Amino acid sequence: MSGRVDGKVVVVTGGARGLGASCARRLVAEGAKVVIGDVLAPEGAALAEELGAGSALFVNLDVTSEAAWRAAVTRTEDAFGPVTGLVNNAGLVHRCPVEKLAEADYRRVMDVNEVGVFLGMKTVLPSMRAAGGGSIVNMSSLGGLIAFPYILGYTASKWAVRGMTKAAAQEFAPDRVRVNSVHPGVVATEMTADSDRSHEMVTRQPIRRAARPAEIAGMVLYLLSDEASYSTGSEFVVDGGYSSQ
Ligand SMILES: NC(=O)c1ccc[n+]([C@@H]2O[C@H](COP(=O)([O-])OP(=O)(O)OC[C@H]3O[C@@H](n4cnc5c(N)ncnc54)[C@H](O)[C@@H]3O)[C@@H](O)[C@H]2O)c1
Repeated sequence: MSGRVDGKVVVVTGGARGLGASCARRLVAEGAKVVIGDVLAPEGAALAEELGAGSALFVNLDVTSEAAWRAAVTRTEDAFGPVTGLVNNAGLVHRCPVEKLAEADYRRVMDVNEVGVFLGMKTVLPSMRAAGGGSIVNMSSLGGLIAFPYILGYTASKWAVRGMTKAAAQEFAPDRVRVNSVHPGVVATEMTADSDRSHEMVTRQPIRRAARPAEIAGMVLYLLSDEASYSTGSEFVVDGGYSSQ
């Protein structure tokens, strides 16, 4: 049986756990070669081993380092050929009232969530161009469409990702590279496990539960596949209906 992303070579950042790991699993199941890029080496290496050496590879990638990005793309090309898919999924949240928020914590969130996405798009573009095209999925958030208190840096970074996606989509279209953003609501991962606000949020939305990671991975899979060939520069919302209210 043929898979929906047969022959694609996809880098998934933050792929060691949570949403990224779910994306990696689904993409391999649908025929892609996947490179898991993360700073969590034991978890990432274990997942790559589980998925099989012919289908997955772990690379130690801190998305805030351009040198690390270049090394990761080279390792991907050596193992599987030119990159045709990128999921800029690595991210972190820092919950804190603005007046207590340390500048270093604000900058750290922007560095990973925003600068990391910029570096990823910049570094994979030549590889995608060489391959004749590709698809980039940038993980924004419901918090990149509307705003919530106590996560100011996160909100700034996810709104930035939404805008950067549109700018890159316009710039990369001549190279047949599509760029879209995905906007999940609350997803049951370690990021939300200890957050009372996240648990309370889902009680106020049409589908009254958190998403399973696989429900977001399904959207990412679609955008990386050729089924999404006419979509670029757009927001894809997977939020249990929260933003419909
Ligand atoms: N969980 C949610 O409710 C939710 C909702 C909307 C959007 N998101 C977004 O989805 C993405 C994944 O989140 P998750 O819920 O799976 O969280 P998670 O904390 O389980 O996973 C995040 C992953 O990113 C990795 N990471 C962090 N900093 C990194 C760096 N500098 N370089 C490389 N990797 C790094 C972590 O090691 C981890 O594996 C994030 O961008 C997050 O903002 C999550």
